[in-house]
Amino acid sequence: MKFACGAKIIGVGAGLPVSIVTNDDLTQLVDTSDEWIKTRTGIRERRIVRENETATGLAILAAQDALAFAGIAGDTIELIIVATSTPDNLYPSTACQVQGAIGAPRAAAFDMEAACTGIVYALSVGQQFIGSGTYKRVLVIGVDIHSRFLNWEDRNTCILFGDGAGAFVLEGTDIEDNELLGTYLRADGNGGNLLWIPNTGSNYPHKGAEEIKPVDRFLQMNGRAIYEFAVNAVPEAVRHACGLAGVEVKDIDYMVPHQANIRIIKAAADRLGLKSEQLVTNVDEMGNTSAASIPLALWQAIKRGNIRTPSTICLVGFGGGLTWGSAVVRWTAVDQRPQEKVETEAEKTENAATESSAVANDEKSDSIKKDSAAEKTAEIAR
Ligand code: ACO
Repeated sequence: MKFACGAKIIGVGAGLPVSIVTNDDLTQLVDTSDEWIKTRTGIRERRIVRENETATGLAILAAQDALAFAGIAGDTIELIIVATSTPDNLYPSTACQVQGAIGAPRAAAFDMEAACTGIVYALSVGQQFIGSGTYKRVLVIGVDIHSRFLNWEDRNTCILFGDGAGAFVLEGTDIEDNELLGTYLRADGNGGNLLWIPNTGSNYPHKGAEEIKPVDRFLQMNGRAIYEFAVNAVPEAVRHACGLAGVEVKDIDYMVPHQANIRIIKAAADRLGLKSEQLVTNVDEMGNTSAASIPLALWQAIKRGNIRTPSTICLVGFGGGLTWGSAVVRWTAVDQRPQEKVETEAEKTENAATESSAVANDEKSDSIKKDSAAEKTAEIAR
């Protein structure tokens, strides 16, 4: 489709729970091991919400971070789209709550659901509104709190997921400066039963003969079938989006896949002929954060200085529905916040004096982190 206006991403942000839960923490809940989880999934740890943290809260943090990255104020945003499968409530939508919190009085706001592919769907919908000339600035957010829908006694599923939010800010440009080069969206409802969270919509509570047990409302997954689906869906989506963008797969500098499992990511990358240094992944630290995982992976890579600017990036998602899709983007966005400056020799000498007390503080903060993870595991177990 030909758009009247171009679009580009000018900001990326993250909203993360404070608690880190390691694989070793999970061995207190289910019969598993750090070794098994790392080998089969690549995950070392994940963030899990505490009682007082919400999907809306994480989405607001991600929105504020992305706005700060872009160097713009909330009141310039005209549309907010939140992709989530795990909102706090059926309504008001998460997007409306974000709209109120970031001070965007002019913005329309709605949620959409496409499971882990949600952020790619949201990006594409945002592009339609910008491309048609309807809006100039659109905020898209992916947020999920799967930990509230997991059976913490099922080792097949509870080890896989983490909680979090990630956001992009989109801005309209002249069509010749367009940087959202191509998006491709797919769905296959016949595979819906391979990954689902039953009895959580208007089907529950219900007037059936038998009371629904809490365990009937937890995520259920056919892991093998999802694995097979994903390793085929990712290359297909990348190739199609490249075709629509008018680039070859070899022109892609980085692929940012949905962070479900490192084995899926590597198998898909092999099929595409991509090298490991082209893969943007943080599944080891975050687990599968569903709709949040793509912006969270890109956000962290940028923070660590691992993304060249400009570059050509392919974002690719897959998940429940079944859904899958991808977007090829030209990445030129630069964090507008003042960056840490390079130390001069004089500053280095001065800072060396305070280093030993910093080390002592780091040790203290590590021990606080461990205590907090232990508390979180106890909270989950309760
Ligand atoms: N710890 C130890 N053993 C385990 C664990 C665990 N956490 N989980 C399963 N096992 C056991 C199984 O019981 C089985 O034992 P058995 O042989 O005695 O029956 C054995 O390990 C092998 O189990 P498999 O299911 O065959 O293991 P597999 O190699 O397929 O890995 C996994 C399982 C990691 C779930 C894999 O199938 C996978 O990654 N699938 C995709 C899952 C996914 O990414 N889902 C979400 C994507 S979409 C979205 O993000 C919403």
